[in-house]
Amino acid sequence: MKKIYGVIGDPIAHSMSPVMQNDCFQRNDINAEYFAFHVLKESLSDAVKGFKAIHLSGFNVTIPHKTTIMPFLDEIDPLAQAIGAVNTVVNDDGRFIGYNTDGSGFLEALRKEIPSFIDKNMLLIGAGGAARAIYYTMAHEGVPSIDIANRTPEKAEYLVQNCPYPVESTVLSIQGAEENIAKYDLIVQTTSIGMHPNDDRSPICLDGLKKDAFVSDIIYTPLETKLLQDAKQKGARTQNGVPMFAYQGALAFEKWTGVLPDTERMQSIVLKQLG
Ligand code: ATR
Repeated sequence: MKKIYGVIGDPIAHSMSPVMQNDCFQRNDINAEYFAFHVLKESLSDAVKGFKAIHLSGFNVTIPHKTTIMPFLDEIDPLAQAIGAVNTVVNDDGRFIGYNTDGSGFLEALRKEIPSFIDKNMLLIGAGGAARAIYYTMAHEGVPSIDIANRTPEKAEYLVQNCPYPVESTVLSIQGAEENIAKYDLIVQTTSIGMHPNDDRSPICLDGLKKDAFVSDIIYTPLETKLLQDAKQKGARTQNGVPMFAYQGALAFEKWTGVLPDTERMQSIVLKQLG
């Protein structure tokens, strides 16, 4: 029988996951189909119950349900629990198990570009949900030190204090990070600054950036934020949010099927959808 997968969120109409995941099922000869399900906040519990009743094989979770879905699941992976957000649910013989592949998707995308990223001097910008997923996953992975800068440093302090994995961190204001910018090999940008339609702004001034630094922005609309343009101008290598998006999907697909799909192909499908 054909297996059914999907993604739940609100809004969900423009999700790129169905095209990307359905291509993976086809390429791997798996008899399954992936749908976008529009689920409102007040219907989340009913939706999960319904998915159980119809034996949905697995699903992704996106805004605004990543945290609120947690009490409705049967088990949560410890890293997802620490992050406080689930983006992937696996139906394991009738039990719904929640995982977070956002942070690990980012890490795998980064590892492709910088295999030895663990030892780099790293600056994370932002202290929201995405920053938390990346910081906690990096700490879980054994990254020894990550500095973090945020408009509201107290939020970054809170994120650091609550991390259950050992990692050294200096919390900085944006200005403080700018003063120390020459020290960093790797800068990871997770705020919404630079995202369409505010795409003319950068969250940080890169004057003094090392020429061989690597700057990653998790935004993919636009494909090249002001931050990445600035970084390129300074001679740095850059990465946008497309690889992270493809890898979080690839790792979800792997949890459902045991097969790690072709991430290069997934990225080209995402780029095509972005136009
Ligand atoms: P997400 O879940 O996508 O990470 P979020 O939890 O709302 O989103 O976090 C947004 C991040 O972008 C935060 O780091 C936020 O900074 P504050 O903690 O100071 O609010 C940052 N951010 C959003 N708008 C910003 C702005 N106009 N200037 C600077 N930082 C901003």
